[in-house]
Amino acid sequence: MAKTGIIFATDTGKTRKIAKQIYQILDSEDVAKPININRCSVADLLEFDNLIIGTPTLGEGALPGLSVDCEGESWEEIVGSLEEADFSGKTIALFGLGDQEGYPDEFVDALGELYDIFSTAGATFIGRWPNKGYQFNSSTALDGDQFVGLVLDQDNQASLTDSRLSEWINIIKPQLGL
Ligand SMILES: Cc1cc2nc3c(=O)[nH]c(=O)nc-3n(C[C@H](O)[C@H](O)[C@H](O)COP(=O)(O)O)c2cc1C
Repeated sequence: MAKTGIIFATDTGKTRKIAKQIYQILDSEDVAKPININRCSVADLLEFDNLIIGTPTLGEGALPGLSVDCEGESWEEIVGSLEEADFSGKTIALFGLGDQEGYPDEFVDALGELYDIFSTAGATFIGRWPNKGYQFNSSTALDGDQFVGLVLDQDNQASLTDSRLSEWINIIKPQLGL
C-alpha cells in the first residue's frame, strides 16, 4: 500500500484540482490517488505514514462543513474523532486555498484550524510556507512570518499557483522519502 495519502475537502472543486496536480507532480507508486475527506474515516487516514492534506476556507474562516453547509463536502464527521486520534509518528504537509481580497481578515483560516487539530493529535508537520507575496490583514494559519502550510489563492493569484506548487513539492518530496 502507498505510504503517502493526499486528502482534500472542497466546495467548488478548486482544492480537488490542486490535489490532483500534486498527485501528478509527485508521480510515485508510493503516493495514493487523492481522496475526498467525505469518503474517508480516521482509520483510513491512519493507514498512511505521510499525509498531504488540503482544504479551502469557507464561511467566516471555517473548515468546510463545520459552520457552513456545503453539500456534504465536509470535515464535520471526523473532526471530533481526529482530536482523539493518535497521529504521533505521522508526517503531515498541509495546503490551503483562500481568497485574500474577499476575506482579508480570515485568510485561509481553515488551514490554521487543521494545523491545530492534527497538532493536538500529535502529528509532525513539514512544508511551512513564507507569507511573502500575499496581501491580507489576518490569518490564523500564520506562525510568525510563515504559514503552517502552502497557501494558494485561485481567486486572485492563479497565475502563481504552478510555480508555488512546484517549489513547495520540491521541498516536501525528500522529506516524504519520495
Ligand atoms: C461562502 C464562501 C466563504 C469563503 N470564506 C473564506 C474565508 O473566510 N477565508 C478565505 O481565505 N477564503 C474564503 N473563501 C474563498 C475560498 O476558500 C476559495 O474560493 C477556494 O479556492 C475555494 O476552494 P474549493 O473550490 O475547493 O471549494 C470563501 C468562499 C466562499 C464561497
